[in-house]
Amino acid sequence: MPTIQVHTTPPYSIRIQHGWPVLPSLQATEVYIVSDSNVGELYLGEVHGLFAHAGIRQYGQTFPAGESSKHLGTVQSLLEGFAEFGLTRSGLVVALGGGVVGDVAGFAASIWLRGVPFLQFPTTLLAMVDSSIGGKTGVDLDQGKNLVGSFHQPSGVFANVDTLRTLPQEYIEDGLAEMLKTCVLQDASLFERIVTKPSVALEPESIARCAEIKANIVEQDPTEKGVRKLLNLGHTAAHAIELASNFQISHGHAVAIGMAMVARAGFSAGITSAKCRNAILHGLEATGLGTRSPYPVADLMAAMKRDKKRAGGTISLIVPRELGQCEILPMPLEQLEAFYEAAND
Ligand SMILES: NC(=O)c1ccc[n+]([C@@H]2O[C@H](COP(=O)([O-])OP(=O)(O)OC[C@H]3O[C@@H](n4cnc5c(N)ncnc54)[C@H](O)[C@@H]3O)[C@@H](O)[C@H]2O)c1
Ligand SMILES: [Zn+2]
Repeated sequence: MPTIQVHTTPPYSIRIQHGWPVLPSLQATEVYIVSDSNVGELYLGEVHGLFAHAGIRQYGQTFPAGESSKHLGTVQSLLEGFAEFGLTRSGLVVALGGGVVGDVAGFAASIWLRGVPFLQFPTTLLAMVDSSIGGKTGVDLDQGKNLVGSFHQPSGVFANVDTLRTLPQEYIEDGLAEMLKTCVLQDASLFERIVTKPSVALEPESIARCAEIKANIVEQDPTEKGVRKLLNLGHTAAHAIELASNFQISHGHAVAIGMAMVARAGFSAGITSAKCRNAILHGLEATGLGTRSPYPVADLMAAMKRDKKRAGGTISLIVPRELGQCEILPMPLEQLEAFYEAAND
């Protein structure tokens, strides 16, 4: 059973396995489990059972599934729930669900009584390899996604891969895109194995490897001052594509297209090798992900230039050199359009 130690402050471990974990002896006096309507229906009872044997006082609250619940109103209703329940500083919040539940519950835990510990029980592939790790929590505003939030590291991450059996295929693909992104950053061999046989991605060892790569990057740079930027591979274009589609194109699918765009553009700029570009394009196609933006580059420019990750007049683009090896390329905004437009096939 893969276990990964994450050396942030405080440190925590990630366990990825078939079945629910036997929880280590908990100091918590009470547990407040947060889930969404879909996941709660399927798994809340089982997770309650994990804490029942410890005789801990517990409560479960669900909110409607989907990104549209990722707002301050949901946070308020959780905080009011914590208050009613009497969640103390020696209590624990558990986020059972995908990235939406993790982000919202983690944020509520980070501000309740100025911060109580929380555990992640990720149930989407994306949450297992990405959003449950690294301590970013938060919600959206009407003005933009993830604008309000905090850094609050979980006290542990427990992923039961069997929950992926009920996850709809479109969300499996979202997670797959982030896994391929992670492999392009640091693991050419896993990239090839997933592309050859996509079901490999759902094995605990593959999920654990991607979680480990993310954890290692986050450990080196918990607050995204440097190397953590690598995780944004494909994301500058992806965010613009999501926005242009009015969020009809999901994040993972947009990341796949964004990666393909940067691989083509990187090749034209003499940074990405032909072998690497071809492997990325072929890999995305072989796993059923897209490689072409339905929108011309010119239509994506305004949103790309507003990227939250921009610093002054420069944006940090992540460009692959070879599979498993990428670089952070500072790009002045005025050169961004030419970089993408130069992409030849
Ligand atoms: N904090 C971070 O570092 C970070 C990183 C990446 C993404 N995110 C955030 O994560 C969110 C996306 O996460 P997501 O893709 O997991 O979406 P999600 O949480 O909305 O889950 C997707 C859908 O699958 C359902 N679901 C979840 N697990 C299931 C299961 N096992 N069986 C059946 N249905 C299940 C959910 O109810 C939902 O309808 C976005 O809000 C994004 O901003 C955060
Ligand atoms: Zn992403």
